[in-house]
Amino acid sequence: MKRRKFLKNSSTATAALVATPFLTSCKEEVNPSKAGVAANTKAIYPIVICTWDFLNASTKAWEVLSSGGNALDAIEQGVKVEEDDVTNQTVGTGGRPDRDGTVTLDACIMDKDGNCGAVLAMENIANPISVARKVMEDTPHVMLAGQGAEQFAYEKGFKKVNLLTEQSRLEWWEWKKTSEYKPIINIENHDTIGMLAIDKNGDIAGGCTTSGMGYKMAGRVGDSPIIGAGLFVDNEIGGATATGMGEEVVRTVGSFLIVELMRQGKSPQEACEEGVKRIMAKNEGRNDFQIGFIAINKKGEIGGYCIQPGFTYRTYSEEGHINNPSESYVS
Ligand code: GLY
Repeated sequence: MKRRKFLKNSSTATAALVATPFLTSCKEEVNPSKAGVAANTKAIYPIVICTWDFLNASTKAWEVLSSGGNALDAIEQGVKVEEDDVTNQTVGTGGRPDRDGTVTLDACIMDKDGNCGAVLAMENIANPISVARKVMEDTPHVMLAGQGAEQFAYEKGFKKVNLLTEQSRLEWWEWKKTSEYKPIINIENHDTIGMLAIDKNGDIAGGCTTSGMGYKMAGRVGDSPIIGAGLFVDNEIGGATATGMGEEVVRTVGSFLIVELMRQGKSPQEACEEGVKRIMAKNEGRNDFQIGFIAINKKGEIGGYCIQPGFTYRTYSEEGHINNPSESYVS
């Protein structure tokens, strides 16, 4: 309900000025040959951007960035806020279960050096983003799935928790009466948090975490933990991340596509629009689903675009925090 209420009120961007006692934003020349951007433009960072109006998560990430922390820590600390929010039924603890009543979580993280880690369909662990970071930093692998991911988490000191809250359990019981599976656009079903950050050194990191589609088939995994689909970062160019119907994002390797489009000279906004158009080209006549992309380039320029009206994305920088209503393919 909280998200629905917000979406009704999201047609106008809300901005607030932010006191930044810790740090002055960096403004430096960007090497155009490396960044794929116009010559003599200024880069402004730190900055964080995330899907939807996740104010608490972006505030936490900004706290890390504005006190001089690095982008990777900002991402992990930021998205963890949503993983720990039991009222958020699309990420972490409190997430909606699959159709068998089991909550399974997906997450991935990527750093400035192209290192990445992911966990897929992991049960009983509250912070998949932190386990994904451990996969990245402490193993020779990129992805761990299911019981292997859970076992690894225990070995790293994570505690077993019950991810199914009473609210989500009761709603699942209600759903079982019909077992009708029809994802409803913008209604509590795909509110993945994807986050991108640039720190004071100009380095970029990103993360993406979700409980996936509510009442999905057991074992279903979407785009969110798939590097290139739900998230991609190239420290020379920028980053992109996605929310929405993961299957369609995977089919176009959406986030990688958007970063590559920025490499070719498109702005983050143009690249996000092209990413959505590629998906729609494969779904002629069908627009009954939502996908939202956000992107940032090396300069700290941002963009966002979606299929259906209603998607927003939040930015936080020295200039303030703002909830941006996204333009959409369908008017
Ligand atoms: N984008 C989240 C999912 O489809 O699982």
